[in-house]
Amino acid sequence: MIPIARPELPPLERYVELLRDVWDSRMLSNFGPYARRLEAGAARYLDAAGVRAVASGDLGLVIALAALELPAGGEVIVPSFTFNSTVNAILWNGLTPVFADIHPERLTLDAEEVTRLRSPRTAAVVATHVFGNPCDHDAIRAAAEGTPVVYDAAHAFGSLYRGRHAGTLGDLEVFSLSGTKLVTSAEGGLVVAREDALLRRLDYLRAYGFQDDYESHMVGINAKISELNAALGALTLETVEDAVARRQAIAARYHAELGGTPGLAFQVVDGRDRSTYKDFAILCAGGREGIEARLAAAGIQTKRYFRPTHTMRAYRRWATRPLPRTEDVYRRILCLPIFNEMRDAQVDEVARAVRTAAPDHPGA
Ligand SMILES: Cc1ncc(COP(=O)(O)O)c(C=O)c1O
Repeated sequence: MIPIARPELPPLERYVELLRDVWDSRMLSNFGPYARRLEAGAARYLDAAGVRAVASGDLGLVIALAALELPAGGEVIVPSFTFNSTVNAILWNGLTPVFADIHPERLTLDAEEVTRLRSPRTAAVVATHVFGNPCDHDAIRAAAEGTPVVYDAAHAFGSLYRGRHAGTLGDLEVFSLSGTKLVTSAEGGLVVAREDALLRRLDYLRAYGFQDDYESHMVGINAKISELNAALGALTLETVEDAVARRQAIAARYHAELGGTPGLAFQVVDGRDRSTYKDFAILCAGGREGIEARLAAAGIQTKRYFRPTHTMRAYRRWATRPLPRTEDVYRRILCLPIFNEMRDAQVDEVARAVRTAAPDHPGA
């Protein structure tokens, strides 16, 4: 079986060494030395002023939007083509999602949609660096016309936009450190902000609204990362460049093996940017079922990802306009296996299975 994803973990002895330290210190949480080490290491790597570790990317998104203190009911322009956490964070904050379409090749928020959908009610723009492909940031920033821009960077630790790290582009950006990510703490996340005022609010928001005084300054939540998780994150952070390099090599091999296959296209990453390839997506003309079935029969996992959020039961009432590019991409998209320790022979095996399935494939 070839899995769709598989976390690369450091040698267990190295983690045990850190755990011994945690055991000795009896400091299990509350932003102890390992949370601090994770934050400092991430800030150094990203060249970012302020990084805050949290319990998950999901909670990170909730408190990132809360930190902006947006007016209740304000509209937030968001792509439907994202993981549902992006949309949940808007709704948990009492804001209104306005679903936008994506660029059909980059698969990230189309900046022209921001221009189209912006109104006096727009409170923020939230976009996702899909599969690690950085958003078209300059165009989105320009279209936002001063409205805060927040990125769901869950997939993008290690991505570069015109040489700048994802994480340092938006007013706030949120990484996930869950098990499928290149840097993982099993569960966890990082919130990056530029302004001191935002960082101060994040400090309160992620810790129930308190600091040391048991006086609630804000309506907070428990978004604290444990020291056990932070220690693992600090270790996997050390090898992020190797992880990105390996994924780039796998993606290049898929491109070489599958390029020119009739009916097949890839997510397009601008030549000036770098994707982490947290996921590797192909777009199958005429539908993906044939390829999906052939790969499943060969023991190769794939996934239909993302299912557009505006089609999900919880969010349908905000689906007020058609999103033709999102819907078309979802009919065609299939994510193939990619993980750091994937061998070239496995990449070739997947590519062979896709190629042999493609000719039978309607529209190929
Ligand atoms: C785009 C996106 N945003 C947010 C999340 C949520 O992150 P977490 O699982 O760390 O809560 C995920 C999870 O994979 C995701 O893919």
